[in-house]
Amino acid sequence: MNELTNIEGQVAVVTGGTAGMGEAAAIRFGAEGAKVAVIGRTQEKGDAVVKRITDAGGAAMFVKAECADEAEVKAGVKTILDTWGRADILVNTAGGFIDAPPLEEITVDAMHHSYDWNVIAKFLITRELVPAMKANKYGRIVNISSVAGRTAGAGAIEYSTTEAAIIGMTRRLAKELAPHGITINAIAPGLVLTPRVTRHPQDVLDARARAIPVGRLGKPEELAHAIWYLCTPGAAFTTGAVLDVNGGAWTG
Ligand SMILES: NC(=O)c1ccc[n+]([C@@H]2O[C@H](COP(=O)([O-])OP(=O)(O)OC[C@H]3O[C@@H](n4cnc5c(N)ncnc54)[C@H](OP(=O)(O)O)[C@@H]3O)[C@@H](O)[C@H]2O)c1
Repeated sequence: MNELTNIEGQVAVVTGGTAGMGEAAAIRFGAEGAKVAVIGRTQEKGDAVVKRITDAGGAAMFVKAECADEAEVKAGVKTILDTWGRADILVNTAGGFIDAPPLEEITVDAMHHSYDWNVIAKFLITRELVPAMKANKYGRIVNISSVAGRTAGAGAIEYSTTEAAIIGMTRRLAKELAPHGITINAIAPGLVLTPRVTRHPQDVLDARARAIPVGRLGKPEELAHAIWYLCTPGAAFTTGAVLDVNGGAWTG
């Protein structure tokens, strides 16, 4: 077994693990021998992901929680720690956006919602799980941001503002958590073929693909591969980084 990549027996928590790149990451962790806690709001979707993992011989549980709700996150973390006694990996994919109107029509409520879903949701579970990681002097945290948080021109202001905030939070926490053996990094995906994207008409997706240097949209499994790397023991010297996984759509 390769010590740099082995996560067998570790406990991996994936918020938004019920669909898209979170689901792909949960499946990947299960296949790598980790015990996977899938967090999401929809029981049927969570049960389906857990079944995929356990049918393949892995260990998984679904934890139903709205990640922006403090009480639900606390209860979910308690369930995970009561069951498995530790947490080694946290992947925060839960997030999203409301279709964006122009500036003059964006309400304060919409800004608050976006902040809750994209920033507070990641802050809360990180705060609740970090003590368990500190106790073991080990942890790997990945926050999913977006190319919208890296550059202007992608996404509405409430989305790009909060995606950039995720990167700021990641960098700041990297300094604070490094002495405890905990790394925290962000991934900024470009367009990825997840349920939120595949609902768009094929001609729209084709046009978006033509604008991406690799000539296509990303696959959830490709995001899961990048997530997995940042969550391996061998990624110990990588912290506070932002990994752009976008097919070359934005290169800085
Ligand atoms: N897909 C892309 O092209 C793309 C590009 C850049 C960045 N991103 C970011 O990547 C992340 C994942 O997106 P995705 O496209 O892979 O997934 P997705 O298709 O949007 O699915 C996300 C999953 O997370 C759950 N979820 C969302 N908010 C939640 C919350 N507050 N609490 C608990 N569960 C929640 C949803 O379940 P329920 O609704 O059933 O609860 C859903 O199953 C998002 O943060 C998104 O902003 C995506």
